[in-house]
Amino acid sequence: MKDQVTIHTLRKLKQAGQKICMVTAYDATFAHILDEAGADAMLVGDSLGMVIQGNDSTLPVTMDQMVYHCRMVSRAVRRAHVIGDMPFMSYQVSSEEAVRNAGRLVSEGGVGAVKLEGGEEFAETISRIVRASVPVMGHLGLTPQSVHKMGGYVVQGKDEQQARKILRDAIALEQAGCYALVLEGVPMELAAQVTGRLSIPTIGIGAGVHCDGQVLVCYDFLGMNPDFKPKFVKRYADLFGVIKGATEAFFSEVRGQTFPAEEHSFKSKTIHLVASNKDPEPAQEGDHKVQVYGVPV
Ligand code: KIV
Repeated sequence: MKDQVTIHTLRKLKQAGQKICMVTAYDATFAHILDEAGADAMLVGDSLGMVIQGNDSTLPVTMDQMVYHCRMVSRAVRRAHVIGDMPFMSYQVSSEEAVRNAGRLVSEGGVGAVKLEGGEEFAETISRIVRASVPVMGHLGLTPQSVHKMGGYVVQGKDEQQARKILRDAIALEQAGCYALVLEGVPMELAAQVTGRLSIPTIGIGAGVHCDGQVLVCYDFLGMNPDFKPKFVKRYADLFGVIKGATEAFFSEVRGQTFPAEEHSFKSKTIHLVASNKDPEPAQEGDHKVQVYGVPV
């Protein structure tokens, strides 16, 4: 608990002028690696609807699926602050449902906060979730759950009127009790203004360098999908190539019968014949102690 990042740590990082590093994660193995790499915050994003489930939007993601993925991630994380995304229609219908669903992500999913998309119109809902002791991260600008309203995944806040609305929304969310705010797909000048006006940290994605922190979808910056190349993503690895190459090498060795080699095979001093009618030797103490699927024995 001592070194764990909390909502207070994030505010202190803003005050100290230190950038917040946030990534998405959806399962225990990735969460473990990203935590070890020094993530301050880890978002179990509803982007899993696209990168994990293969949908073309985040809209089909359900509460049960979010709880499931949140549980996997929070189980593996030691240091980072873990946030669970509220999926489409889990908070829009009524504040009561919103509080109940936010509570599920905390009690069943094990996260330390929730994130939801939307502005001023959700201020009352956010206050009620915060009053129930669940910290809320806001999300403004390009909000993927509003894809149909926006007419696609388009940069928001480019004209004066939209920009003023986003600034007003940001102030309303801070007043409603949000402890941090994601700014997605907005011009960097607007993100700079919002960041300067708020005392809570802003975390940008496609919002320029002036935000208090940055977030990217882990599958994007790791290069898992060569066909997805939006302007705001920088690829820090080509995991598609690495994974494909390693898998091809494995298949080639299987076909060439060079895998498994002796060092990957178990031996028995007592079995000399493959086909035998004799009863097998009783198992010795420790015989079963092999490492399976990355679980240490
Ligand atoms: O769902 C998600 O991954 C997100 C981030 C892109 C901020 O909302």
